Amino acid sequence: MSEVKTYPIINNPQYKPHIDEDTYHRMYQQSVQDPDKFWSRMAHQFVDWFEPWEETSNVDYNKAEISWFKGGKLNASYNCIDRHLKDKADQTAIIWEGDEPDQQRYISFQELHDEVCRFANALKSRGVKKGDRVCIYMPMIPEVGYAMLACARIGAIHSVVFGGFSPEALKSRILDSDCQVVVTADAGVRGGKQVPLKANADEALKGCPDVHTVMVVKSQNNDIEWHTERDVDYNVLKQDMQPECAPEVMDAEDPLFILYTSGSTGKPKGVMHTTGGYILYTAMTHKYIFDYHDGDIYWCTADAGWITGHSYIFYGPLANGATTLMFEGVPNYPNASRFWDIVDKHKVSLFYTAPTAIRALMAGGDEAVTKTSRQSLRVLGTVGEPINPEAWEWYFNVVGEKRCPIVDTWWQTETGGILISPLPGATKLKPGSATRPFFGIQPALLDTDANELDGVASGSLVMKHSWPGQMRSVWGDHQRFYDTYFSQFPGYYFSGDGAQRDGDGFYWITGRMDDVLNVSGHRMGTAEIESALVLHESVAEAAVVGYPHDIKGQGIYVYVNLMKGKQGSDELKAELIAHVAKEIGPIAKPDKLQFADDLPKTRSGKIMRRILRKIAEDDIENIGDTSTLAEPAVVEKLIREKL
Ligand code: WT7
Repeated sequence: MSEVKTYPIINNPQYKPHIDEDTYHRMYQQSVQDPDKFWSRMAHQFVDWFEPWEETSNVDYNKAEISWFKGGKLNASYNCIDRHLKDKADQTAIIWEGDEPDQQRYISFQELHDEVCRFANALKSRGVKKGDRVCIYMPMIPEVGYAMLACARIGAIHSVVFGGFSPEALKSRILDSDCQVVVTADAGVRGGKQVPLKANADEALKGCPDVHTVMVVKSQNNDIEWHTERDVDYNVLKQDMQPECAPEVMDAEDPLFILYTSGSTGKPKGVMHTTGGYILYTAMTHKYIFDYHDGDIYWCTADAGWITGHSYIFYGPLANGATTLMFEGVPNYPNASRFWDIVDKHKVSLFYTAPTAIRALMAGGDEAVTKTSRQSLRVLGTVGEPINPEAWEWYFNVVGEKRCPIVDTWWQTETGGILISPLPGATKLKPGSATRPFFGIQPALLDTDANELDGVASGSLVMKHSWPGQMRSVWGDHQRFYDTYFSQFPGYYFSGDGAQRDGDGFYWITGRMDDVLNVSGHRMGTAEIESALVLHESVAEAAVVGYPHDIKGQGIYVYVNLMKGKQGSDELKAELIAHVAKEIGPIAKPDKLQFADDLPKTRSGKIMRRILRKIAEDDIENIGDTSTLAEPAVVEKLIREKL
């Protein structure tokens, strides 16, 4: 890390940042010296409470028990909408930009209020009440936000499932949290192509007997199957709904939502977040990390189906009364200037996207960027995976014209909000480093024996202390919450990532230490893809590893051992790749598939992934010791037969 480039703090002379360097250090000290005092002050500042809390925090990592602001009463939708009506009723809350460049809608806070209330009343009319789970399987249209906030308003727990997931994946998520109501649309559209959401939902629901209502938002007006008992045309029902609905009084620790995420083993986990701490943490990080000021136009390009969409399209920005932009389409449709055209059209000042999008646009050349103005931009953000310094430099120099600080934000579905990131105007920048912890965040690096490492070091990235946005449990399986995050290093929250710390105390995330892949910023369990593969009648055994991919960050490399008597062919390869896409979704599509008569195993039968990874990465020299293998010759054969 000796040749690392460092940029001094970049400050836009037109703005006084909320936090400068001295303020950062002062507030950080306060936040770790007396966390309860600090968070209590912030909770008064950022959140409107119906009733104050009794206990600021109560955390026991040895039991995986975490609570913040218990006894405090509030409502998340009230905090995102109602409290802004006094002075911002006519201000745009949501700018919606459609898939086609001539489609846009501007939704004021008053309209948002009315729409959310109507949606809430519609859910109530189908019997939804506090504590019920509602599955939301939607494209990026405003109704996805209305549905989420409507759940929050009546105390129902939403579980948003990304529209790119397959019927099979949708089904297992509906069943796991026993959702009895599903909100969907006839279809979504991305890059001019339709995504048949309702048909997928119909397919999934064949295996979900307890779902009694499917609320369908018809947005594409195409033909869909209709189940009269179960399906409700939302736009028709809406006509009879009142634009008023009193927000349910919720405890700070009442669940707000469940969001499924992949782990190294087993099926996806239902990450559960609660109300008070989450709203505080997303609002506060949004304000300080993007240096949000009144009048800013803020755009996060994520999908509502991921945590980034939850925290930084909807809850955080809306809690701050911000104008938040949501985009239905993709970065390269109708052409590679789309992002920057949207920036110019809506005068976006704060922009947040993923390294995979940056790399894809970078590959398209500078001209698509430089022909646009981008003068409105002030802060650029990135999230989802480590950003390589080349992509960082391009983002900084070409997109931001050296004027906009880049906030490389490290966090996870589990953390609710950003934990490590520069603050614009307060932190110098090093391309590829997420830099410093946010207020209240106490990272540490551990060696394999759980010793905390000092100074310049490299190890497992853990957190020593809780923060309000931390997940509270795995839905329906608290033991799994403990086992996954608190058992390996007792007394710490373990992120699953490795990291290095440099001489400035800056953190550099090196990536997952477990069998989890990060493909285009999407987290994918290798075990999940393997399970999908062995469901196919021709597959005896499968092993999945990641390998470096120029655009996606990591690509999916699959080794397949076929059933006796089956022959590998190009057709079968294509069939197996399609099979994975069908079981999980297109995002899990293997990039490379190699047929293998045998996989390298230890004498006790454990697949040696380390070796498979080296072969996939073309790093044959560093394959290491193969003497512990049951049959070392297997490795030679795999290398010989590699594509
Ligand atoms: C994993 C979490 C949190 C939003 C999107 C992904 C990786 C995330 C960064 C970053 C390096 C990053 C980590 C993490 N990751 N942001 N700025 N630098 N790595 O959420 O699906 O829960 O994935 O994404 O490996 O553990 P997620």
